Amino acid sequence: MTDAIQLVPLDEDAYYQDPAGFFARLRESRPVAPVRMPGYGRMWVVTRYADVRAALTDQRLAKDVHRYPGGGRSRPSEADNLHAHMLHSDPPDHARLRRPVQKAFTPRLAALRPRTEEIAAGLLEEMAAARGDVIDLLDTYARPLPIAVLCELLGVPVPDREWILASVLAYGMPDRPEESQRVTRELAAYLTGLIAARRARPGDDLLSALVLARDSAAGESAGDGLTGTELLSAAFQLIMAGFDTTVNLIASGSLALLTYPAQMARLRADPSLLPAAVEELLRFANPLKHATDRFTTEDVTIGGVVIPAGEWVLIATSSANRDPARFPDPDRLDVGRAASGHVAFGYGIHYCLGAPLARMEAEVAFGALLPRFPGMSLAVSPEDLRWRPVSLMHGLESLPVRLA
Ligand code: HEM
Repeated sequence: MTDAIQLVPLDEDAYYQDPAGFFARLRESRPVAPVRMPGYGRMWVVTRYADVRAALTDQRLAKDVHRYPGGGRSRPSEADNLHAHMLHSDPPDHARLRRPVQKAFTPRLAALRPRTEEIAAGLLEEMAAARGDVIDLLDTYARPLPIAVLCELLGVPVPDREWILASVLAYGMPDRPEESQRVTRELAAYLTGLIAARRARPGDDLLSALVLARDSAAGESAGDGLTGTELLSAAFQLIMAGFDTTVNLIASGSLALLTYPAQMARLRADPSLLPAAVEELLRFANPLKHATDRFTTEDVTIGGVVIPAGEWVLIATSSANRDPARFPDPDRLDVGRAASGHVAFGYGIHYCLGAPLARMEAEVAFGALLPRFPGMSLAVSPEDLRWRPVSLMHGLESLPVRLA
């Protein structure tokens, strides 16, 4: 039966370079559409706001591959065993895996803001030294800031941070799978060593807290302890989930402001708009094109379309955020807009654990950048910018700017 389903051909370049346009066409013509995705074969794409919100809370759209109908299987994109974490799990495991991380994460947020401000200020000083020239805002600001903050959170020693950054960048190379596998092994070995070091000498970082929770819960049935594999998976996932996403918010958010100079001027003139502006930038710039993949455990009807059991589904959060049925005039950036209700951080049980950290980082990043370089402008025309050819993330290859 399913072979008769007509697939929407995916024009890869249009999808990568203009996902908003690609999704808008689907939203209008086939809001729940079977699409051929590179690496996956057929996938279903859900594009309307109401369907996206409903799908994100539908337990029949599962993440734990052991529940795949007809027997467990692995994701096409996975070549490692680092996925014993919350984002690849379903209830009841999900809560067990999320709780200890949440507990270790939340109390560390307040202390991270002043550190993030210091890191941002240091990076802006370095950028100022290059003033007059064109600089890449990704290399100089959008990437180094989140990686430094993540390393602070996890307790990665300062001398190791450049290596972590290079590894995470190499991991995200879509066209070099062997490189990505090598880096995955190296990062796993590094994090295993770091966990052992924190066990020997705990600090006040998140990894130490997870190690202590694990050790004090050992032997208890209702403890907060993750197993060794789960702890490693959690550390790996936090780095992966917390890096590219925040990089994209800072870089694509900056691009959005640079292409809407009146909005940028408004934000500069009234920094109290920052929290609302960050929400609008999340809605508008969409660091992720869609939520991470899910599969149907049984036939599921979404928007009147039956998706058979055992099919992979992409829930296009970025499309929901541009759905005119939810956000009036959605393709216009308006830093004063009431953008709450956007689904850039997802919705339901997998709602982004790092959302408060990402919001704080973005507030600090834009709050420091805008007044520091009042004459900042794009150094190329927007059409010349290229977006990385990957499905999940929506991120620029580079962002050349003139600081004055
Ligand atoms: C602008 C930055 C960020 C965006 C747009 C973002 C977006 C998302 C989205 C959409 C999800 C849900 C995925 C799904 O349902 O398939 C998610 C989950 C998650 N995010 Fe983020 N994220 C960001 C930053 C961060 C940061 C900084 C961290 C931590 C350091 C983080 C940690 C996580 C974790 C642990 C999950 C899994 C939650 C669960 O499965 O219960 N994220 N994020």
